[in-house]
Amino acid sequence: MSDFAENRVISSALKQEDIPLETNIRPQNLNEYIGQERVKDNISVFVKAAASRGEALDHVLLYGPPGLGKTTLANIIANELGVNIRVTSGPAIEHAGDLASILTGLAPRDVLFIDEIHRLNRAVEEILYPAMEDYHIDIIMGKGPGAQTLHLPLQPFTLIGATTRAGMLTAPLRDRFGVISRLEYYNENELYIIIMRAAKLISLQITEAGAKEVARRSRGTPRIANRLLRRLRDFALIKGNGIIDDDMAKMGLELLEIDACGLDKTDQKVLRAIIEVFSGGPVGLDTIAATISESADTIEDVCEPYLLQLGFLNRTPRGRVATAEAYRYLGLKIPQSNLSQTTSFFDE
Ligand SMILES: Nc1ncnc2c1ncn2[C@@H]1O[C@H](COP(=O)(O)OP(=O)(O)O)[C@@H](O)[C@H]1O
Ligand SMILES: [Mg+2]
Repeated sequence: MSDFAENRVISSALKQEDIPLETNIRPQNLNEYIGQERVKDNISVFVKAAASRGEALDHVLLYGPPGLGKTTLANIIANELGVNIRVTSGPAIEHAGDLASILTGLAPRDVLFIDEIHRLNRAVEEILYPAMEDYHIDIIMGKGPGAQTLHLPLQPFTLIGATTRAGMLTAPLRDRFGVISRLEYYNENELYIIIMRAAKLISLQITEAGAKEVARRSRGTPRIANRLLRRLRDFALIKGNGIIDDDMAKMGLELLEIDACGLDKTDQKVLRAIIEVFSGGPVGLDTIAATISESADTIEDVCEPYLLQLGFLNRTPRGRVATAEAYRYLGLKIPQSNLSQTTSFFDE
């Protein structure tokens, strides 16, 4: 990821500075977790059923763009189950033995949370298959003809995996999850509630109009809403009277270079590259990345899902295409040659 992407206020990746605020305001139970109603309904049924049978909850896969609440939900599930959660991530588990020792250390019905589970290496992943399927691991002791397989039983446990790229999971791993839930972008009203709740928890004064403005420009993402709130708190303190009202919110968001839809410079660069350099597309992801000197991963994980959601971008087999709506939003004229192509993707 480039320095620029790391520093973007809108980047939905977790940053060091987010951690103190995030741990303060992170919802602790399902009631405090706003939105994602379908996911919450399912989870609460499965949690109750597992508890009433005294069994471990089925393995859960949570997927969706960064900042939508996957880690939060994993913690809440453990909380609701009344068990401990052990947190790790795909890239952090280097060797099969590391995972084996984590798994053997779990108490009955505990939750093991593996973030970025699509980045597990193959050898580690293979330890997970029997562990998930019937709670045991096979450890190979020694080498060559004298090698022996040690069959080690585990306590029943729940694996919760989180990923921004469900498509990158191997089929055998994906098939072993009993519950697969996709988190969606939040609507303005949900973000408004999240913002008001966070403001209260950090004793920040914000007006209804101010909160609504922040909600509109948080690109559907609670982590961004919280981050904007913190930046605006500083602006309100230094440039105003400490209260975030409508004007303060608008001024601050403008200084942060976030536009009316919540797009920042990088999002706009992506759209403009497609439109101005590649005549609206189709153009491949790597070509866009090279054109604007941004990593393809950032574009795919952060920019694209939201541009797709807004209807500004389409993914076609031949590459990315800007929609008529994108031209309109940027105040650009749709070239005649592109008209049939772009309007066909856009419901008038
Ligand atoms: N449904 C929600 N309701 C309220 N706040 C939320 C919700 N989802 C996420 N948040 C807030 O957003 C922050 C980022 O969420 P997180 O779970 O870390 O996202 P992810 O793991 O998907 O990247 C959390 O610290 C929390 O404060
Ligand atoms: Mg997370």
